[in-house]
Amino acid sequence: MKRYVAAITGASGSVLGLRLVQELLSTSEVHLVVSTGALPVIREEAGLDWTADITVQAKKYFDSDRLHIHQDDNFHAPVASGSFITDGMFVVPCSMKTLSGIANGYANNLIERVADVTIKENRKLVIAPREMPFSAIHLENMLKLARIGVTVAPPVPGFYHGPESLDEMINFMVGKILDAMSVPHKLFKRWGES
Ligand SMILES: Cc1cc2nc3c(=O)[nH]c(=O)nc-3n(C[C@H](O)[C@H](O)[C@H](O)COP(=O)(O)O)c2cc1C
Repeated sequence: MKRYVAAITGASGSVLGLRLVQELLSTSEVHLVVSTGALPVIREEAGLDWTADITVQAKKYFDSDRLHIHQDDNFHAPVASGSFITDGMFVVPCSMKTLSGIANGYANNLIERVADVTIKENRKLVIAPREMPFSAIHLENMLKLARIGVTVAPPVPGFYHGPESLDEMINFMVGKILDAMSVPHKLFKRWGES
């Protein structure tokens, strides 16, 4: 079974991260890290209050034995070490703060540390940076990462598949992010498919 790290940070679009984890769990082992900054956004956007104890509450929400949850300040978590093998990492959504931390190797919390490890071990890292508009600082950080092979996949909707609901738009964006890691899914109808 494939094993992925999924990080949800405090950018808008936490529902994308939640949908991604849900989809990954149907086929894979998932190590989830939610930043402290993401908690108020998840409460605001998804109506989930995980502030009391995320390890209990998120486990209950996803209800899967394949899910492992790590606190964002726990540098002793298995995923903090390169010796713990994974098939890659997603940061969805990725805030500009975490983007900067990853691009500069700051490793100030578990998410940034795992991203640092994923890059040094030459494993696949897919990030979905979300801000509007992007500043030159944001774009330079993205370019720096793209140049070393990180996939920068901002959550931008497509319209060519004829979405009729927000749910379909979310599935399209999450599906494209999964495509970047070659994770099979049926979240949207592909161009050319009947
Ligand atoms: C409702 C809400 C929406 C936010 N949306 C964004 C966003 O889209 N992009 C971003 O970079 N930061 C956004 N922020 C700010 C981040 O949450 C903040 O910079 C935080 O420190 C990020 O920390 P983290 O990367 O460790 O999660 C938002 C904050 C709130 C409360």
